[in-house]
Amino acid sequence: MSHNILFVFNRVPTSEKKGIWSECVSSKTVSAISMALREGGNQVFPLNARNFEQMDKFLGHIPPIDLAFVIAEGLLDSPETLYNGTGCALIRTFLESRGIPSTHSPADKMEVCRNKALTYEILNQHGIPVPPNSRITFSTPLQPQIAMVEQLIDYPLFIKPVAGGNSLGIDENSVVRNRRQLERRIATLAEELNYTEIIVEKYLEGQEYTVGILGNISKTVLPPIAFSLDTGIRTSHAKRKGLKAGEDLELITCHDLRFFRLAELARRTFEAIGAADVLRLDIKANHDGQLYVIDVNGTPSLSTSASLFLMARETGLTFIELINLIVYEAMIRHGLTPGPKLEDIIVKCLGKLNAYRQEVA
Ligand SMILES: Nc1ncnc2c1ncn2[C@@H]1O[C@H](COP(=O)(O)OP(=O)(O)O)[C@@H](O)[C@H]1O
Ligand SMILES: [Mg+2]
Repeated sequence: MSHNILFVFNRVPTSEKKGIWSECVSSKTVSAISMALREGGNQVFPLNARNFEQMDKFLGHIPPIDLAFVIAEGLLDSPETLYNGTGCALIRTFLESRGIPSTHSPADKMEVCRNKALTYEILNQHGIPVPPNSRITFSTPLQPQIAMVEQLIDYPLFIKPVAGGNSLGIDENSVVRNRRQLERRIATLAEELNYTEIIVEKYLEGQEYTVGILGNISKTVLPPIAFSLDTGIRTSHAKRKGLKAGEDLELITCHDLRFFRLAELARRTFEAIGAADVLRLDIKANHDGQLYVIDVNGTPSLSTSASLFLMARETGLTFIELINLIVYEAMIRHGLTPGPKLEDIIVKCLGKLNAYRQEVA
């Protein structure tokens, strides 16, 4: 049985993929994902999400949609939705109101993923280690808030926007070692993109990891990436440069003892957030190797050069298989029956993922 899949993304020309547009996708990624979705035996209706009127008009001209594969972070005509943390949820809620279920985590969970303060609060409630942190709001007097931070956490501190993503508002000056640097950083962020709230947290100097987890009832933790110790802060510039296995990073397979610690943290984080289908989390160690979750991504990049595919490829999965695995998980979760072509792909995936897959009791 073939399904109609609405593929929702934010595409901009590659030359414009920076700053607030940095989480948008290129034509190359749109083509690769569209092709993969078709390989799963489904009809694909690609839509570059600009505004709700345009989306409604598009929906009026196509056959009824069974599932939306949504990687859009917001609406291109309201650019603030792309980076202020509201876009992912906004699009899902809109589609739901039109009776269309979506892939990836539901709207309310996306809100949690896109708000670093909320992410930390929820993970903390579930006993998952996050760096000691505090929130600073620009609309209330700063000095008492700074004094409070200094009481709670020792310098060096790391500063990030509450509603960040793709390292927006993060660079080498995000590490502050005294009050003067902290005040200067706050002033910079208040000017840039009109941030209104930031997170101040303990600077963690150890190794950084990123872990991808797929599934719902059964979950697959892909071989995590350990970034080389001299990678430093993953700024948007560093992320744009792409990743080279062996040089900048190491893939940790299930034969490595470190895998189990990272996989356990990923599974607990997925559960705590109430995520669905796919999640990628960033983990960082402190000076003595203790691990902390520093970031949770509900819509991890699905470009062919992104870390999620790099991790998937280590298990032998192809790009087509990775995309269709996400579709399959979403279909089962929404009560849709996958067609035979999709089933065939999934059988191949499961064979490759055996060692990484764990049934949940
Ligand atoms: N507490 C921290 N200590 C040290 N480095 C950090 C800390 N938090 C974030 N970073 C660095 O900044 C990068 C981006 O931060 P992250 O929280 O992942 O936000 P984003 O959503 O922008 O990816 C991380 O990949 C890491 O290199
Ligand atoms: Mg991150």
